[in-house]
Amino acid sequence: MANSSAIRLDRVELSLGTGAARVHILKSISLAIGQGEAVGLVGPSGSGKSSLLMVLAGLERADSGSVHVAGEELTRLDEDALARFRGRHVGIVFQAFHLIPTMTAIENVAIPLELAGRADAFARAAAELTSVGLGHRQGHYPAQLSGGEQQRVAVARALAPEPRILVADEPTGNLDETTGKQIMDLLFAAQARRGATLVIVTHDPALARRCDRTVRLRSGQIEPDDARVDALAGASA
Ligand SMILES: Nc1ncnc2c1ncn2[C@@H]1O[C@H](COP(=O)(O)OP(=O)(O)O)[C@@H](O)[C@H]1O
Ligand SMILES: [Mg+2]
Repeated sequence: MANSSAIRLDRVELSLGTGAARVHILKSISLAIGQGEAVGLVGPSGSGKSSLLMVLAGLERADSGSVHVAGEELTRLDEDALARFRGRHVGIVFQAFHLIPTMTAIENVAIPLELAGRADAFARAAAELTSVGLGHRQGHYPAQLSGGEQQRVAVARALAPEPRILVADEPTGNLDETTGKQIMDLLFAAQARRGATLVIVTHDPALARRCDRTVRLRSGQIEPDDARVDALAGASA
C-alpha cells in the first residue's frame, strides 16, 4: 500500500526566516496521498498550506523528516536533481498566475518544455493551449489576456510536461466564480484523464467538496478529521 502513494510525508518539519524572524511553520507533518487522488488542502490563513505545497513540490526543503514524491526521496536530492524532479514530475499553478510578461502565451508554455529538452516543445505547447480553449490566443502577451485566460495559460504550462503531480495554490482566488469554475474543471479533467495526483490549496468550499478528501492544517499541524474526533470523543465518553 505504501508504494502506491504518489506523495508520502513522514514527520516533516519546516522553519523559514533567520534570527528573531525565524518561524517554525510545519510541525511533524505526516501525510500519504495516492496516485490519482485529489486532495483539498484547507485551513486558516497562515496555517502553513502554501509552505506544505512548496515542500511537496520540491520548492522548499524540509529541515527534517522524509518527503517521498513520485518515487523520489526529495530530502536526498541536490539542487540540480531537485530542479530536474520538478521539471519532470510536478506541475504548479499559483493564485497570481506567475506568467512571464515579456513572453507570449505559447512561449510561456513552451519554455519549460524546451528547458526539459523536448524537441516538440512548441507543438506540445500549441496542443496544450488548444486543450484549455486558447488555441486562438497563442501569440498574445499576458497583459493582453483576461485573468481567467492568464490562469488557463498557467494551467496549460503546468500540464504540458504531463506531470504525475499537480499542485495548485488557491488557483481560483483571483477569479470570478464562473471563471474559477472553468479553471477547476480543467484541473479536475487533468486529474481524471491523465491519472494525475492533484493537491489544491483552497478557501473555496465548493472546490474542496470536489476533491476526494480534504486535509486541514492548523498552526502548521494536520488536524484530525471531524469524524475521527467524534469517534474518539465517543470512545472516551
Ligand atoms: N519565508 C518565510 N519566512 C518566514 N516566515 C514565513 C515565510 N513564509 C511563510 N512564513 C510564515 O509561515 C506561516 C505559514 O505561511 P503559509 O504557508 O504561507 O500559510 P498559508 O498558505 O496557510 O496562509 C505564516 O505565519 C507565515 O508568515
Ligand atoms: Mg497560502
